[in-house]
Amino acid sequence: MRLFFALVPDDALRPLLGERAIDLARAIGGRAVPAHNIHLTLAFLGEVDRARVPALRPILDAMPRDAFMLVLDRVGEWRRAGVAWIAPSVASPRLAALHAALTEALRGAGFPVEARPFQPHLTLVRRPSRTLADAPADPLTWRVGRLSLMRSEAVGGAVRYREDAGVALAVE
Ligand code: 2AM
Repeated sequence: MRLFFALVPDDALRPLLGERAIDLARAIGGRAVPAHNIHLTLAFLGEVDRARVPALRPILDAMPRDAFMLVLDRVGEWRRAGVAWIAPSVASPRLAALHAALTEALRGAGFPVEARPFQPHLTLVRRPSRTLADAPADPLTWRVGRLSLMRSEAVGGAVRYREDAGVALAVE
């Protein structure tokens, strides 16, 4: 099955991100990611053998549990990847620490990990037809309160992400 670790916006933020995706797709063309699919990927695992899936649970459980804030205030586009996104303009040490801990644990357990630098983003639009220069966005504040192991499923031709397992992040 196709799996990835992600931060999924809460119920309050999700529709706001969905609206941003629709607005952005209107401006630059392409396909708006539906609100229920918008997320920040921490580690993309790709196809994982069923027998290896139970090894992911202790990794999830061992992650730092501190909640933190992200301010999503920048939009941009990666031409080659064909995605336009929203992201924080300010690096978050908590996010970096969570990403580093996860990458380390996955590597230790023998899962393939991304060698490229971590560029936290939430994809809003796929295959935009016009270019989008990096630009400030009306800030959206996100209190990140959950870490999720997600499963990607094809439902009638559409991709749908579903939480397989998750842990709550709490304020200290
Ligand atoms: P994207 O949103 O930037 O396209 C589920 O597919 C998630 O994993 C998406 O957030 C996607 O990032 C990311 N993803 C998909 N394929 C990937 C790959 N080959 N390497 C890294 N991340 C990938």
